[in-house]
Amino acid sequence: MTDYIALPKAEVHIHVEGCFEADDVIRNCQEAGIPLRAPRDRLFEAHDLKSFLEMLDWLCGTFRTREQLAITAYKFARRMAKSGVRYADVIVNPTHWPHWHSNIPGMINAFDAGFAAAEQDGYPPVGLCVSLLRTQSAEDAIELVELLSRIRHPRVVALSIDGNEAAAGRTGPRFAEAFRRAAAAGLRRTVHAGESSGPEGVRDAIELLGADRIDHGVRAIEEPALVDLLAQRRIPLGVCPISNVALGVYPSLAEHPIDALRKAGVPVSINTDDPALLDTTLEASYAACADTFGWNSETIRQLAATSVHASYANPALKAQILADLAVWRA
Ligand code: ADE
Ligand code: ZN
Repeated sequence: MTDYIALPKAEVHIHVEGCFEADDVIRNCQEAGIPLRAPRDRLFEAHDLKSFLEMLDWLCGTFRTREQLAITAYKFARRMAKSGVRYADVIVNPTHWPHWHSNIPGMINAFDAGFAAAEQDGYPPVGLCVSLLRTQSAEDAIELVELLSRIRHPRVVALSIDGNEAAAGRTGPRFAEAFRRAAAAGLRRTVHAGESSGPEGVRDAIELLGADRIDHGVRAIEEPALVDLLAQRRIPLGVCPISNVALGVYPSLAEHPIDALRKAGVPVSINTDDPALLDTTLEASYAACADTFGWNSETIRQLAATSVHASYANPALKAQILADLAVWRA
C-alpha cells in the first residue's frame, strides 16, 4: 500500500482538543483528583457532534497547569511529524478550557512554548487558529478578537469559529463584526460551516464572515451555484472525510462528496479534525480516500498541493514543501 507518510503535505483542519492522549488525560485526573468520565477504553466515546463537544469540555477541564498545555503542544507537533506533515494550522477554542477562561494570553503562551520546543527538536512548525464557539455571544466574540489584536502574538495566525451550528441556528450575522475586526487586525479567517449547517452556512461564512478558508464546507454540494462560487473564487475547503463519517454527517466514505467537489473544481484538501479522539491519522485518511475514490498519484499530489496553498504557512516554507511534493513518488 502507498506510504502517505512520505507525502509532503500540510494539515489545515485539526483541533488541539482532538489530539489528546488518554495517558495524559488520566494523569491530569490523578493529579487533580478528578473521577474519569468513563473507563480508559471508552474515555473518548461520543456518538454525534453534540456529545463530542460535551466530551471536549470535560477533557479540556482536566488541563490546569501551564506545563500540561506545553506538553500537549509538543506532542501535537510530534504527532504531525509522525504523519509526515510539514506544517500544521491548529485550532484551539478557549471556551472548552474552563481553567483558562480568565487567562487566554497565558494559554497561548503555554501552547507557544510547547510548539517552539518541538520546532527546536526538528518537528514541523505550527500556526495557532484561535476559535470562537458558534453558541457564544457577539460581545464575547468581539472581546476575544480585541484581546488577540492587543497581544498580537506571533504564534496566532487566524481567527476561527467552530462548534455546533445545528444547536446555535443561523449565527453568521452575530459574528460578522468580530470577523471584520479580525481582518482589520491582519488575522486570517477560517470558518467551520457546512458540517452541522447546510449550504446556507457556507454562504454566510463567505459573505458575512469573509472566510478565506472553510473548515468542512462539504454540504455546499447541496447547492450547485455555491459549488460554482467556491470554485470560481478558489476558496479552499479543509475537508475531514473520516470525521464526517464518524460523527454521522455521511453514512459512509463512498457517499462523501469530497470527490464530487474536487471534480467540480473546488480546492479541497484532506484533514483529520480530531484524529486522536476519532482514532485515525492523516496518512490513513489519504489511503482510505484513495482507495474509495480510485485516486491516482497525480490526484493525491494535487490534493496535497492544495493543503499547502490553503495553509497559513509562510511563503518560503510553502515553496519548499511544494518543491518536495513535485518530486514525490508514490
Ligand atoms: N470542534 C472540534 N471538532 C469539531 C467539529 N468536527 N465540528 C465543530 N466543532 C468542533
Ligand atoms: Zn473541526
